[in-house]
Amino acid sequence: MGLLSLASVSRTYGLEAWLDNYQDQPALKLASDETFWEGIRMGYRLKPEYINLENGYYCFLPQETLENFIGHVREINYQGSWYMRGVQFDNKKKVAAKLAGLMGCATDELIVTRNATESLDTVISGIDWKPGDEAVMAEQDYGAMLDMFRQAAKRYGIVNKIVSVPLHPASDDEIVDLYANAITDKARLLMISHMINITGHILPVRKICDMAHGKGVQVLVDGAHTVAHIRFTIPELNCDYFGSSLHKWLSVPLGAGLLWVKKENIGKLWPLIGCNDLPADDISRLNHTGTHPVHTDLTIPDAIDFYLKVGPERKEERLRYLQKYWTGKVRDLPDIILNTPADPARCCGIANVGIRGIKPSDMADTLQKKYKIFTAPIDGANVHGCRITPNIYTTPSDLDLLVNALKEMA
Ligand SMILES: Cc1ncc(COP(=O)(O)O)c(C=O)c1O
Repeated sequence: MGLLSLASVSRTYGLEAWLDNYQDQPALKLASDETFWEGIRMGYRLKPEYINLENGYYCFLPQETLENFIGHVREINYQGSWYMRGVQFDNKKKVAAKLAGLMGCATDELIVTRNATESLDTVISGIDWKPGDEAVMAEQDYGAMLDMFRQAAKRYGIVNKIVSVPLHPASDDEIVDLYANAITDKARLLMISHMINITGHILPVRKICDMAHGKGVQVLVDGAHTVAHIRFTIPELNCDYFGSSLHKWLSVPLGAGLLWVKKENIGKLWPLIGCNDLPADDISRLNHTGTHPVHTDLTIPDAIDFYLKVGPERKEERLRYLQKYWTGKVRDLPDIILNTPADPARCCGIANVGIRGIKPSDMADTLQKKYKIFTAPIDGANVHGCRITPNIYTTPSDLDLLVNALKEMA
């Protein structure tokens, strides 16, 4: 591990020197300092053919992390089975410990998985459901998790209660009450999105968890879009289970996620892949995957270093600034429909915009073909528009082109 991270230090020198110039600048001020962000942008290799406003699927790596990753691929290829038999498992634990440090949680409650789907489905499928048990979720939650709840309904006879989150809530209470009203004395698990992926809407997770616990219901949080996007620690959410992707906002190579399970719940979950030789309360029991690309895991510490160097507060403020920059120019225009709340506490980098009379798929098609802007069309769960997801390399002039395109199309 020492050897692997030394290589990354020398490669990062350029970025570190750049960041040194800005050490004392407050994040809020830097959010609109284009010279600063130009230095960050230079660390990415960007396709010239179009503007990528679809970072919600995968936040590809800055060159520095990519080089680290390639170094790990070479090293593992050199060490071969010796690494896989001897060092792999200890290193994975060290990686998980560093990730636990970032998330402010205990090391023995967190594992590195292959993606958010694996993390969240481990919980949904791992509970010892009884027929008639109820689970509560929203139609705006991610499809793969909703599918796993449907499978649990077929397999164990659970009942799924599905709410619809309002696009523009008047208060936190409105959201908390929505979930509270869906809970009966048969409810066992509530799943909530920390940030709804199709709109970027941030939910009042702590308040929902407190309410659910008051009714004896556990909470699973889908944080696929919040790790390394907005600042928080897992314990402050007061949830029972938390899953996320790391190839999204942390910019880890494809195929990494995290699962956090509150210590007292670890022994109660069935693993997704059988594992019988570990104590019930050892979270590694939930982490048996078979052979997989370990170099991805080894790049997690490098991606964390990159994130910390750029600065979590700077990143969050920049992403919110970029979103506000373009939504502020179109929010009040006729025929343009913003599907993301305006309150800065309820949103950050992601927002969704629709145009009256245009199907989201046609809108995305026109944005791509006519304006060379790549977005994600969303047409369901009461959301009709294109998801717009900038990243820290995005410039306001990229977004001016989006604004101009939206105005013309509207
Ligand atoms: C809210 C949400 N949950 C879960 C997932 C699944 O993530 P992964 O592809 O890493 O399994 C996604 C992916 O886009 C998502 O947006």
